[in-house]
Amino acid sequence: MTRRQVPRWSELRPLLQLKPLQLDPTRRRLDAALTIADLRTVARRRTPRSVFDYTDGAAEGEVSLRRSRQVFADLELRPQILRDVSTLDTSTTVLGHTSAQPFAFAPTGFTRLMHHEGERAVVRVAERVGIPYALSTMGTTSIEDVAAAAPAARKWFQLYVWRDRGAGEELMARARAAGYEALMLTVDVPVAGARLRDRRNGFSIPPALTMRTVADAATRPAWWMNLLTTEPLGFASLANWDGTVAELIDQMFDPTMTMADLEWLRSCWDGPLIIKGIQTVEDAQMVAEAGADAIVLSNHGGRQLDRAPVPLGLIPDAVEAVGDSSEVWVDTGVTSGADIVAAIALGARTVLVGRAYLYGLMAGGERGVQRAADILTDEVRRTMALLGARSIADLSPSHVRLP
Ligand SMILES: Cc1cc2nc3c(=O)[nH]c(=O)nc-3n(C[C@H](O)[C@H](O)[C@H](O)COP(=O)(O)O)c2cc1C
Repeated sequence: MTRRQVPRWSELRPLLQLKPLQLDPTRRRLDAALTIADLRTVARRRTPRSVFDYTDGAAEGEVSLRRSRQVFADLELRPQILRDVSTLDTSTTVLGHTSAQPFAFAPTGFTRLMHHEGERAVVRVAERVGIPYALSTMGTTSIEDVAAAAPAARKWFQLYVWRDRGAGEELMARARAAGYEALMLTVDVPVAGARLRDRRNGFSIPPALTMRTVADAATRPAWWMNLLTTEPLGFASLANWDGTVAELIDQMFDPTMTMADLEWLRSCWDGPLIIKGIQTVEDAQMVAEAGADAIVLSNHGGRQLDRAPVPLGLIPDAVEAVGDSSEVWVDTGVTSGADIVAAIALGARTVLVGRAYLYGLMAGGERGVQRAADILTDEVRRTMALLGARSIADLSPSHVRLP
């Protein structure tokens, strides 16, 4: 029979590890988030429903997004054993310059809507982590203010071509003058995708005060307080707008764009050119031949054409088709560092992440974006070590089996 005794304080005390109480609720929430999915859960609780849905949602039945995420879940990672992984190097070369990590922050519009710290927060984290940041044409902080917030960050400017070509030329000139390194032309928005969550929520820019949003405000007071007590929310690169996102896109964006317009673009921009939104190998080859320095295989996070090709699956053929003439990048559906490693192993030069950092931003402003970046970088390192890859160059298609 087991002999029992009364617990003695001298034996109990060393087992008690009382951590100092974290009094800052945002810090506490962020520390408790261990994955991007955890940050999404916090973001959902902190942000009005229409804003969360605008960020989280995709087009039509959201099949493009679901499939793009599912393929990451379904692929198999194949480790190589007995490699010395005591030192790891996650850095890579993108457009001829070093990036500390094999990912970059994708351009996202209306960023100050998600959290009042907005684009400044995102670019500052990019600067600290040592990765590039792409500012959207639909940004809510000006080209110059973003540059001033993080002078040492690598910055790219994402362009949507408007019917008013003169306005686009002016933006490119401003980006050049403010030290933006590359232009990223997004080509998958000839018209607006049907974001049904936005339609159902009556989402508009600026957010309208309806019965429903007022009720929502009662449960998200901090977000509304920040909206009303900080710099008024508006687009930095276009005259202010009153209406839905779809109306804005359909009125401002130029659906007549063709390959011939790339020449016009080249005459306005003499730096590196990235073409984002390529969804077939044929188009990858076409824009590479037309002189794109990089192409982004992307279905815009599932926010445009529904049931579009899954970008990850296009990588091997696109890399083979374009050869050394362009870098092949990828985005859509990335929710972990392991996803990033898989895409790089298949041949992508870098990976853009969108929602992953926006969930962080909604969950806790700049600290939340930093938490998202920390989660991703940790996961990248751990996955590389477990795969037996010491450097990005060690990663190869043999590390991944696609479903
Ligand atoms: C809220 C939101 C706004 C976006 N705005 C833009 C934009 O202004 N320009 C653009 O080229 N892409 C935009 N995108 C697409 C992203 O650049 C990127 O392609 C996409 O988010 C990648 O998918 P992921 O969110 O699953 O990482 C946006 C995406 C989201 C989620």
